Amino acid sequence: MRAIQIVEESGPDSALALVELPEPDPAHMLGWVGPDSSVVVEVHAAGVSFPELLQTRGQYQMKPPLPFVPGSEVGGVVLSAPDGAAVKPGDRVAAFCALGGFAETAVAPEFFTFPLAAELDFAQGAALILNYHTAYFALLLRGRLAAGETVLVHGAAGGVGTASLQVAKGLGAKTIALVSSEAKEAVAEQAGADHTLLLGEGWKDAVLELSGGGVDMVLDPVGGDRFTDSLRSLREGGRLVVVGFTGGSIPEVRVNRLLLRNTEVVGAGWGAYVMGKPDLNREIGAAVNGMVDAGFIRPIVGERFPLERAAEALRTLDERRATGKIVLDVRRD
Ligand SMILES: NC(=O)c1ccc[n+]([C@@H]2O[C@H](COP(=O)([O-])OP(=O)(O)OC[C@H]3O[C@@H](n4cnc5c(N)ncnc54)[C@H](OP(=O)(O)O)[C@@H]3O)[C@@H](O)[C@H]2O)c1
Repeated sequence: MRAIQIVEESGPDSALALVELPEPDPAHMLGWVGPDSSVVVEVHAAGVSFPELLQTRGQYQMKPPLPFVPGSEVGGVVLSAPDGAAVKPGDRVAAFCALGGFAETAVAPEFFTFPLAAELDFAQGAALILNYHTAYFALLLRGRLAAGETVLVHGAAGGVGTASLQVAKGLGAKTIALVSSEAKEAVAEQAGADHTLLLGEGWKDAVLELSGGGVDMVLDPVGGDRFTDSLRSLREGGRLVVVGFTGGSIPEVRVNRLLLRNTEVVGAGWGAYVMGKPDLNREIGAAVNGMVDAGFIRPIVGERFPLERAAEALRTLDERRATGKIVLDVRRD
């Protein structure tokens, strides 16, 4: 099969090689998943995300020995599945494989493989798990977002951002999207944001005005120097949910601010939390598919590249140019 490997940790321009490899072993690389619980997937589209970019530099927490095939999630068709799995050969699926997705065949645990609704194409399937499961986990399970509340979403035209706008809507909340350009404002609107704001002087005051004195939640995949203004944007009892640090620096909190305003900072690390919890994954998968069926979730796919141009795909993330989900078309269909 054709696959992209990371052969050295020198950044997206030089770390990748297009190679021919034997079909993967159904014993999934996640050590505790054996061949009896693995689904083999014919990959049509592979999602491209920050972990793959960080892996080209050796900066991600999961560090397999070189060379290895990156790619955490795919949309495709089941080739084989264990007895008792929710999917069977021939089914269209979205699957989270953690590694190995940038290839014509990938292997995922059965509890991380979900039926793909007819309304979504393979590229949207490759955009469904990492971002939407994270959004559901961060907004509801960690942040306790309730119907009628208002959430401010940073990086709202990005993968996690667009997913969070749609999941928040599905939970009955109102959304304010904060982005850095007018083109990204259009993407946030397409994702269903109730309000969009441009990053710049005064965004915090605009949030306070739009929300009538403060939002109930801030969903933050960006971090950096906007963090203090994010805390100032919360109303009493509000929660700031920390999801990532694309801005490049990890903010520090002066906890007196939390005490004085009765607010919370909540960490949301989806992968580490759900990895050993098959039933929780099935529960989140069912909830996300329910929101697809109800029309709230329609993944926004941005630029698409053929498999052999994976380096360019990673650079769009690196250079802050990505909107929605970046996808590799692994098979031409
Ligand atoms: N906690 C978890 O479980 C979890 C799960 C999935 C992903 N994540 C993390 O969430 C973060 C966002 O992932 P994503 O897939 O949504 O990324 P993305 O599609 O590239 O979006 C990230 C957004 O961050 C903003 N940004 C600000 N400064 C940036 C910079 N210097 N470089 C790039 N972007 C910058 C951009 O929005 P503006 O230009 O509008 O500011 C961009 O749209 C990543 O750090 C990822 O690792 C965490």
